[in-house]
Amino acid sequence: KIIVLDFGSQYNQLITRRIRDLGIYSELKSHKLTAQEIKEINPKGIIFSGGPNSVYADGALRVDPEIFKLGIPILGICYGMQLMAYSLEGGDVSSDNGQYGRAEISITSDDAKLFKGTPKTQNVWMSHGDLVTKVPEGFERVATSDDCPISAMQDTARNFYGIQFHAEVRNTDYGNDILKNFAFDVCQAEANWSMDDFIDLQIQSIRETVGDRKVLLGLSGGVDSSVVGVLLHKAIGNQLTSIFVDHGLLRKGEADQVMASLKGKFGLNVVQVNAQERFLSKLAGVSDPEQKRKIIGKEFIEVFNDEAQKLDGIDFLAQGTLYTDVIESGTDTAQTIKSHHNVGGLPDDMHFQLIEPLRSLFKDEARELGEKLGMPSDLVWRQPFPGPGLGIRVLGEITPEKLEIVRDSDLILREEIKKAGLDRDIWQYFTVLPGIRSVGVMGDSRTYDYTVGIRAVTSIDGMTADFAHIPWEVLSDISVRIVNEVKHVNRIVYDVTSKPPSTVEWE
Ligand code: XMP
Repeated sequence: KIIVLDFGSQYNQLITRRIRDLGIYSELKSHKLTAQEIKEINPKGIIFSGGPNSVYADGALRVDPEIFKLGIPILGICYGMQLMAYSLEGGDVSSDNGQYGRAEISITSDDAKLFKGTPKTQNVWMSHGDLVTKVPEGFERVATSDDCPISAMQDTARNFYGIQFHAEVRNTDYGNDILKNFAFDVCQAEANWSMDDFIDLQIQSIRETVGDRKVLLGLSGGVDSSVVGVLLHKAIGNQLTSIFVDHGLLRKGEADQVMASLKGKFGLNVVQVNAQERFLSKLAGVSDPEQKRKIIGKEFIEVFNDEAQKLDGIDFLAQGTLYTDVIESGTDTAQTIKSHHNVGGLPDDMHFQLIEPLRSLFKDEARELGEKLGMPSDLVWRQPFPGPGLGIRVLGEITPEKLEIVRDSDLILREEIKKAGLDRDIWQYFTVLPGIRSVGVMGDSRTYDYTVGIRAVTSIDGMTADFAHIPWEVLSDISVRIVNEVKHVNRIVYDVTSKPPSTVEWE
């Protein structure tokens, strides 16, 4: 296994993901691990992630200097490389030159281990404030660019490597080769890990954690919690009770479909709670997106608590939290972008211990996991659906009338996308109700009705996204149907922004 030490980059888990894609198990670990703890983990290699701060900042994150004496290969990425230069004898870092975006580097050594099999000049993705200005003793510079004289460095005797750019993002043309060279040539790791191992590992760890105690699962109706349900059921059978809270913010027909499969096919023990009224009344009059998310998250947990009290001796609460939910809600080291409901909003006095088996996975990995567990592909390949559901697709204040507009227009969108054969190509497609009304004409009458927005994006992991290039004819059919079939809608707009700068959801 190769471990990644976390210095707070938004990309840190992406590094572990790329390594797992090579067939090598990889996990993100705290930068606070001591050399002794790392020795016990016994990894084949260590990667220092990037991070948002300068090595000179107050409270800058550091490593146990003994780590450099373990004889384990180390790759420093961006901040990780600066930290190496800062921590090791003879190196120096300067804070003057920020650089963000694509850059061309030239390889300056014939024996640059990480760049084996890649061209002499290549494009990389730079995103840094500081620069290494002097390599530590024993190192040589192996790559350079106009704005970053020392773009990469190596010390082949100690097996220490540093790259100033991000090999883990796709904008670095040979990033995968660089990580491969590090993993296989330098660390001599073997490709012997697969999703089946992940299942075995998780089942084992769930059994160890849970023992003969009982687990409660929050089924949200989405893919992630369903996968967790099936995984837990496999691990601990009837020690798992699932509670499906119908908060009234699901898509049309979804609850029935999911229940039929989980209860019917997989035999999960599911308690269904109809809490529509409860959620709607708590949300009445609230229009701030963060507040709405928090209310929905909090109610969700409270409904659990209420239900759990009726059950005897539950110790654990399982959730389908994915890595993207964790990172965007802010971690120890990364900044908050949105508080995702399965992460934020948990009350402090919650008396369950959390089990989140998908916490290190990206969406497509969770789907692969679901398929390996034998879940039907139409369930696993459903588009991602946010925990707060349609509550964040009705912008501003939520009313039953607005929910119905979103639900009905969304169903039409889904039908037409499927009819056009695009449902597997588009990562997520849904309608939103921005709450603006505009003037239109239907028949001979003036109307003053709602605008429905269509959001459709392609994405690999939800961290970045492009708007989907849906053919005009398909958009046209969708538009005609929604305006004709959904009351109080007289205008359709298509969202043509990517993430970043937008997010996938509108709230
Ligand atoms: P954003 O809008 O943050 O969405 O670009 C990225 C992905 O995450 C989903 N999403 C959520 N999922 N709880 C979830 O489980 C949430 O609170 C939440 N908010 C957004 C979103 O649908 C997209 O797939």
